[in-house]
Amino acid sequence: MDKVIIFDTTLRDGEQAAGAMLNIQEKLEIARQLEKLNVDVIEAGFPASSPGDFEAVRLIAQEVRGSSICALTHANAKAIDSAWDAVKGAKKPRIHVFLSTSEIHLAHQLKKNRDEILTLAKDMVARAKSYTEDIEFSPMDASRTDPEFLYTIVQAVIEAGATTVNITDTVGYAIPEEFGKLIRGIFENVPNANKAVISVHCHNDLGLAVANSLEAVRQGARQVECTVNGIGERAGNASMEEIVMAIKTRNDLFNLSTRIDTTQIYRASRLVSELTGFAVQANKAIVGHNAFRHQSGIHQDGVIKLALNYEIMDPKDVGVPASSLVLGKLSGRHAFKERLAELGYVLGEEDLNRAFSAFKEVADKKREITDRDIESLVAQEMRTVSESYHLDYLQVSCGDHSMPTATVRLIGPRGEVSADAALGTGPVDAVYKAINRIIGVPNRLTEFSVSSVTAGIDAMGEVLIRIESDGVTYTGRGSATDIIVASARAYMNALNRMLASEGRSST
Ligand code: KIV
Ligand code: ZN
Repeated sequence: MDKVIIFDTTLRDGEQAAGAMLNIQEKLEIARQLEKLNVDVIEAGFPASSPGDFEAVRLIAQEVRGSSICALTHANAKAIDSAWDAVKGAKKPRIHVFLSTSEIHLAHQLKKNRDEILTLAKDMVARAKSYTEDIEFSPMDASRTDPEFLYTIVQAVIEAGATTVNITDTVGYAIPEEFGKLIRGIFENVPNANKAVISVHCHNDLGLAVANSLEAVRQGARQVECTVNGIGERAGNASMEEIVMAIKTRNDLFNLSTRIDTTQIYRASRLVSELTGFAVQANKAIVGHNAFRHQSGIHQDGVIKLALNYEIMDPKDVGVPASSLVLGKLSGRHAFKERLAELGYVLGEEDLNRAFSAFKEVADKKREITDRDIESLVAQEMRTVSESYHLDYLQVSCGDHSMPTATVRLIGPRGEVSADAALGTGPVDAVYKAINRIIGVPNRLTEFSVSSVTAGIDAMGEVLIRIESDGVTYTGRGSATDIIVASARAYMNALNRMLASEGRSST
């Protein structure tokens, strides 16, 4: 059976989503999970865009050996050299050169004519090719490019050495039939089209990224660019899990396969959601909380009789944990470890000890610990691993007749202990002010939301916040059975990320 190459750009286009900033360790963690998924190509970043991106691509290239590692670059000699510098340590390196080809971008953004674009595209692909064999070229805004010019440029870059040519719907403008026709047109009009893999890269502005990609595959495209949970610039990219499961589930129609280990999908989705701070909507296909839940009586009855009545996929195939086992305060370390493994967490001894004592603490307050609780508390423990400041103690007093007051004690980067107190308009405000008095780095809170991990009065609360400093947004998350504690943890998480990324210490 013919294979469709899965090119994952969660770490590049996905990270371009407003507010999704990831640090280097988080990128590496996601890259490792993408490798477990068996993704063919991981686009690890855009090295010329920032020193942080350069370093992340370099590190991932060194550490992740099971997938090709790709570095994006614009069509500029210096940027191509930097992309190669970053990715050259990879076992299977790829350089991905992009250049706009639509009339609108040529006239209003690049201010170049078609001949100049054609020459630049050929020259830059040849330059990249002087470094490595595996070269991808993307005509940016391809779906709004004159098809005749697109055919010319595709032919030219293949002659210059491109091994993959990626047809983009950069602004999410295409409709499936039309996009499929464009792909078919390439095979019919570009004489050397079969010397390269024709790829597609669709954005979701009209909610059609997955439909457009699948139609392109039906017309002969053999690489799809996509992201976990569909995150990405504006309305996002084609969602990896939807593409992969559509090809698998409708194999009768596509007669194609991918190399993806689909049982790793759920874990990848949770990880990306956790690290980017983008919640997955409940009704999201494949990975949403409701994706495999049946509410109506008729549906429930049908599923009990035979799952196939109302389920086109087996939740086990995408790694959704079967929540048969509910842990509680009498559960031992062994049961906890087993459950973690079933959920896809393999922790070292030290991490396991920390997670287990956090579990015991929650189990003291909450009768039943569900899978979602476990995911939340493991994530909470992982967040505290590399923090500069640690929240050691928190006490709050509030009520309808008192002034909200918070006392906090933090342990600083050199082990120093500092305590302070503040009044606020509410308990969370008081906590944040008390923390600010110690850490003293100015920032602005731009988003704050609380949600409950599971139902019930004793549910764990999860807090997501975003803070802004010098025009950069930092996300923080925290969880606890007490939402004020969760809010404090989320703030500490965002502040620690800010301090780590700026190499800043407190005043
Ligand atoms: O959307 C787009 O055109 C891109 C290219 C850089 C591939 O992301
Ligand atoms: Zn894109």
